[in-house]
Formats: sequence, structure tokens, C-alpha cells
Amino acid sequence: MRPCATTLEAEMTPLEHEYLLRLIGDAHHTGKHLEIGTAAGGTLCAMMGCFDDQQRPPFVVVDRMTYFPDQAATVRRNLSQRGLDPNQVDFRVATSAAAFADAEERGDVFDFMLIDSCHKILAVMADLRWTRLLAVGGILCLHDYCPKFPGVMRAVDRFLSQYPNYERMGLAGSLLAIRKATATAGQEVTPLDQAYALAWHLPLVAQRKIDKWRAPQRAAA
Ligand SMILES: C[S@@+](CC[C@H](N)C(=O)[O-])C[C@H]1O[C@@H](n2cnc3c(N)ncnc32)[C@H](O)[C@@H]1O
Repeated sequence: MRPCATTLEAEMTPLEHEYLLRLIGDAHHTGKHLEIGTAAGGTLCAMMGCFDDQQRPPFVVVDRMTYFPDQAATVRRNLSQRGLDPNQVDFRVATSAAAFADAEERGDVFDFMLIDSCHKILAVMADLRWTRLLAVGGILCLHDYCPKFPGVMRAVDRFLSQYPNYERMGLAGSLLAIRKATATAGQEVTPLDQAYALAWHLPLVAQRKIDKWRAPQRAAA
């Protein structure tokens, strides 16, 4: 069982939370806020807590809710315990890919996005398609942008090299913040970006296996 299933805590460090909440607080965005991957909802509660009840923008959560047993009920309980109404959250219980297709069809636009779902390169590259729905001036945060998760780093670095209209705002711990400064010429995440991710998929799987195999040897040395 994941510890957060019982502690209801966020899977982020206090430093990352402080940065995230400062970004949200300073931005004063009124449009939809999105979290992809919520675990027990600890970070969701913190983000929603940045606003007074009357002034809170709409929050959308995408998660397949299979991280631990009763995940969906646990997130709702966490919100209630912190004085937040779970019925105010638009929960989309689905894979990120299915929810993206649905959001695109609805014509959703977001002012703020936090991507913290599957950290494998193919999944991260697919999640980056959500930026097509990010408003100009909107903020994208990505968690676990660090050497421990090369899938996140490689996908995001490729994205930033291909889409110069996104500017890096800062990094706190492994939380990276990016702003969509101007509209994108064309569309974010092309078949070439996906091919890049595919080319790195197997090497990263192999590296993960080697690292796992070496870890006990390193610990014993
Ligand atoms: C690292 S946890 C999120 C932590 C959370 N943001 C926090 O700060 O506490 C990852 C979450 O992503 C969800 N997830 C993983 N892969 C997914 C996918 N392909 N589609 C939707 N949700 C996914 C899991 O169910 C889990 O809740």
C-alpha cells in the first residue's frame, strides 16, 4: 500500500509545495486548474486551499484511480477533512490519454496544469499534448523532473527545445514550472516528438533494469 493512502499526504516535498503554491497565488488565474495524477489528493487540497471558497477557480482532476484501493473515495475524504467540497472538483476518472481526447473534444482550456502521472517517457510525451489546451500566459508544472526519472527529463527537454514559445520559470526540488508565453505555431507534440520518445523507450527500460540489479550490490559494498 502507498503510504499516502493512509497518511493522505502529498507526494511532494515541502519545498516543492511552497514553490507550487507561490506560483498559483501570484498568478491570480481565474480559468480552469488541472492536476493529472493526484494520488491521495494532498497536493490538490493544497492548491485548492490557495483560494477563498468564493474565488476558487474550477479544478479538474484526471486520474485512473487505481493507485491504491479506494483511491477515489480517499481523495474525496481528504478534501472533506480539509474543509473543501469534493463536489466542487471535476473528477475525470480515466487514463490521461482518454481524458485528453475527451477534453479536446469539449474544447477545454486551462490556465494552470500540473502533470504528475506516469513518469515513463512515452507517457510523459503523451501527457505533454495537454499543453495544446493551455491558455497563452498559462503555467505548466511538471513533477519529478530529476535524474531519477530520465523519462520525465528527456521528454520535457525535447519539448522545450521544440517549442521555444514556452519559457522556463524555475525549478524547486524536482518541480519544474514553464509558462506558455505565446501561442504555438502548429500543435504541441508532433509524430516526430513521439518517435523521439519511442526511440528512448527501450534504452531507458534497460537502464532501469540495470540500475535495479546494481542497487543491492552497491548497498552491500
Ligand atoms: C505520483 S502520483 C501523483 C502524486 C500527486 N500529484 C501528489 O502530489 O500527491 C501518480 C498518480 O498518477 C496516476 N496515474 C498514473 N498513470 C496514469 C495514467 N496513465 N492516467 C491517469 N492517471 C495516471 C496514479 O493513479 C497516481 O494517482
